[in-house]
Amino acid sequence: MPLTILAIESSCDETSVSICKDGQILSNIIATQKVHEKYGGVVPELASRAHIQNIVPVMSEAMKVADCELHQIDGIAYTASPGLIGSLLIGSQFAKSLALSLNKPLIAVNHLEAHVLANLIPEKKPSFPFLCLIVSGGHTQIVLCESPISMKVIGETIDDAAGEAYDKSAKLLGLPYPGGPLIDKYAQLGNANRFLFPEPQIPELNFSFSGVKTSILYFLQNAGKSTIYKKEFLATEEEKKQFIEENRNDICASIQNRIVTILLNKLNKAASITNCKNICIAGGVAANSGLRKNFEEMGIAKNWNTFIPPMEFCTDNAGMIAITGYYKFLHKQFNELSFPTNAKTVA
Ligand code: KG4
Ligand code: ZN
Repeated sequence: MPLTILAIESSCDETSVSICKDGQILSNIIATQKVHEKYGGVVPELASRAHIQNIVPVMSEAMKVADCELHQIDGIAYTASPGLIGSLLIGSQFAKSLALSLNKPLIAVNHLEAHVLANLIPEKKPSFPFLCLIVSGGHTQIVLCESPISMKVIGETIDDAAGEAYDKSAKLLGLPYPGGPLIDKYAQLGNANRFLFPEPQIPELNFSFSGVKTSILYFLQNAGKSTIYKKEFLATEEEKKQFIEENRNDICASIQNRIVTILLNKLNKAASITNCKNICIAGGVAANSGLRKNFEEMGIAKNWNTFIPPMEFCTDNAGMIAITGYYKFLHKQFNELSFPTNAKTVA
């Protein structure tokens, strides 16, 4: 008997529905909300309203692309946590209503675990145990994954997430939200060794990005003369703008270089400590060209088996919720309709 899962993702500003049959993703429809661009970040209330508008057409499209009918669905998976509470509630209520009306099992999924298991979507999958660096707009963690239903966080950020570091740096450079992909674009044209931003010394496998952000702020305020606050170097708005315009590619390449080395140095440390050779990356920042390239190079140098999900399964998508739902279904991990939706991790 084939096993078909319908999955819903609505944790932030992407409304997505996916159909997965026997572990194969048949459709993964994603509606990205453009409404937030002019505000420089996601506006939670606007995100919830857009999810309400998007969810039915996105589901219809997912069913159409997968050539699937309601009676063929065996289980409903959805993101229960973590995320924006208003956004999560739209997807949760929709999933619960479907499960109730179709009389099918409900499967609550943790968004971060789903980012990790996106690595099980392609044909070439990591074997267990594997390490995964999750780098998204809201989280930065290193996870030891022992099975699809058993994961342990072994390191995480103590302040900003890697995606936040990208987006906040981009904002300082006057780039629109989300700035991560734009820094990536300019970085590919620049000299990554031109400007040196400090690497924070954080114990164990944890990360910190707030110091890097502050050094970039001072660096721009000083028009490139120092990464620490120096009153004598303070530039006028005009000088600062001109400095950014003339050096944008090198600044972006140098920022990217620092963020990527922070991430990969800790991942390397985690691989040594756990003696793990199967190493994955996941989350929106895994779409970053610098991270992908340096990760692959490090993998060759260290003799790792490296895995990165295809681009469409790196940023928020329901395909990763569907694959997680599929494995949870196989392990009969179902949830009651009363299962809580939460901004913090609960599933
Ligand atoms: O995983 P995701 O789609 O959403 C969250 O769960 O947060 O990640 C979004 C983050 C944003 O911060 C965005 O700027 C970043 O991923 N991002 C990138 C790139 N593409 C997306 N950052 C750097 N380079 C990219 N190419
Ligand atoms: Zn995410």
